Amino acid sequence: MTTVRLLVQGQDRDYALAVGQSVLEAAMAQGLDLDHACGGVCACSTCHVKILRGGDCFSAASDDELDQLDEARDVDLDSRLGCQARLERAPADGIVELRIPLWNVNAVREGGS
Ligand code: FES
Repeated sequence: MTTVRLLVQGQDRDYALAVGQSVLEAAMAQGLDLDHACGGVCACSTCHVKILRGGDCFSAASDDELDQLDEARDVDLDSRLGCQARLERAPADGIVELRIPLWNVNAVREGGS
């Protein structure tokens, strides 16, 4: 299995992301706090991430994903749903970098869970 380095802005450790794995699956497997209110079925936008590096190596966004992203705040061209963005091939430099938008983090904290 091919695995790449997953960097997450603001985190002081590296994570791993395997080819074939979604961002949410990698986060859950390694204790990275990424909200996923709908359980990863593309029915919310709480798993919104921005893929700053390596984004072209992920599965293309479906119409459903784009519809959900329309509901998210602070969306830009790098935005994906973490449960839908699946790594399809390793980037040439072996690195994927993400940012979890601040409002996602706030929503998790305010939720008290
Ligand atoms: S967890 Fe709900 S859309 Fe990703």
